Amino acid sequence: MIVKGILGVLLAVGASYHFVGPILLNDKPHAIPRLPEKNWGPAGVKEDTSIRPFKIDIPKNVIEDLKHRLSNTRDLTPPLEKTGWTYGISGTYLKTVLDYWRNKYDWYKRQELLNKFPQFITRIQGLDIHYIHAKPSTTVQNGKTLRILPLLLVHGWPGSIVEFQKIIPMLTTPRADADFVFEVIAPSLPGYGFSQGAVRPGLGHAQMGVIFKNLMTRLGFNKFYTQGGDWGSAITADIAILFPERVLGSHLNMCWVSGGRAMFWQLLGSYFPSLVIEPEHASKFYPMSKHWSRTIEESGYFHIQATKPDTVGVGLNDSPAGLAAYILEKFSTWTNPEYRFREDGGLSEKFTLDELLDNIMVYWATNSITTSIRLYAESFIAENRDKFDHLQSYVPTACAVSPHEILYIPKEIAKLRFKNLTQFNHLPRGGHFAAFEEPKTLSDDVWTFVKTLERA
Ligand SMILES: *[C@@H]1O[C@H](CO)[C@@H](O)[C@H](O)[C@H]1NC(C)=O
Repeated sequence: MIVKGILGVLLAVGASYHFVGPILLNDKPHAIPRLPEKNWGPAGVKEDTSIRPFKIDIPKNVIEDLKHRLSNTRDLTPPLEKTGWTYGISGTYLKTVLDYWRNKYDWYKRQELLNKFPQFITRIQGLDIHYIHAKPSTTVQNGKTLRILPLLLVHGWPGSIVEFQKIIPMLTTPRADADFVFEVIAPSLPGYGFSQGAVRPGLGHAQMGVIFKNLMTRLGFNKFYTQGGDWGSAITADIAILFPERVLGSHLNMCWVSGGRAMFWQLLGSYFPSLVIEPEHASKFYPMSKHWSRTIEESGYFHIQATKPDTVGVGLNDSPAGLAAYILEKFSTWTNPEYRFREDGGLSEKFTLDELLDNIMVYWATNSITTSIRLYAESFIAENRDKFDHLQSYVPTACAVSPHEILYIPKEIAKLRFKNLTQFNHLPRGGHFAAFEEPKTLSDDVWTFVKTLERA
């Protein structure tokens, strides 16, 4: 232990002077990169600034074809004895999902629920972008007119706007102790569901940030708040970094920090945890070996999507069983890592099968799984890799950390990147899909953050 400690000190001191020092000390504000506003659409597509009302309306033949495929699913391989979902989704459980999907799930009813939110499509940088635009339920409270604050709400993979059905009303309904209310704009990421995907390479998370900034401009919102999880957190952090004058506050439920400085502090903290993390949370981050082997165990999908998305996309796009298996496994493990030991993956602990299938339907009905997973490749191609993740944000920022978040970052490390971290809360419950799973908890955290900023 003592030897390890001394080694740690030598490593830390040596590394900081000779190797990481320049990175560590160079904490000055960086120049804001300017991204070209490229056209991502098919050659010859005309710009069109109109805003077209949109309703989800999946043609009957798509649903009939889906039922046909579900009826012809080949035998699923049962899991090995007592392994739960640790080898991937359990074929035995998947069969019950597929039976439900074919026989009980009523898409037309579910579609009606999704269509309760006003939706629109508008063309930005050559792509038709779909979004929910939910206005406040009322703008007057106790005879006083409320201020309306625009909030850009951004999902990730393998999620969709389906994740936001419960949280949107919690944001657009006034609260007694606030003199404002939110107007929510929740877009589908380009290439996800009802938003068109790019036809040429390069549309990574930062470029999506540019598109959504332009969406907010189109809607007349000069300044706005943002909220994001998963890719949505990367995209909204990019907007705060690239266009700080536009963002009033950035609420993230996955704070992402990478680069040499974060790595250095993480290493140093493995010897002296109290330097980077409170003792009660240390087990979420250390021992590093445990977390790294867990990361390797769970991140195979990431590597393949960042390298050969089109190959894996073929099978997922052609087989509803394959698509459901691929997506549901994430909703199990990312909600709670312990669920992988259960026969049913713990799926119904927090979600209904209807909700989970709604999300899968958004990918299935629009043929968009391949274009969605390309985001990993586009964010890690040479021209985008490491370009944005290390940039610092000076916009007031909140990190909401779910106990089962897959990517835990301690506050001290988050502060390396988010220079005005005005709120950092450990949420009492939940996992990676916070908006979907714990809408009340997450919305409370957003309200608290914005109340603090609006009072200041
Ligand atoms: C952080 O943001 C708040 C709210 O805009 C502001 O009052 C404060 O001065 C900022 N702090 C820093 C360190 O920039």
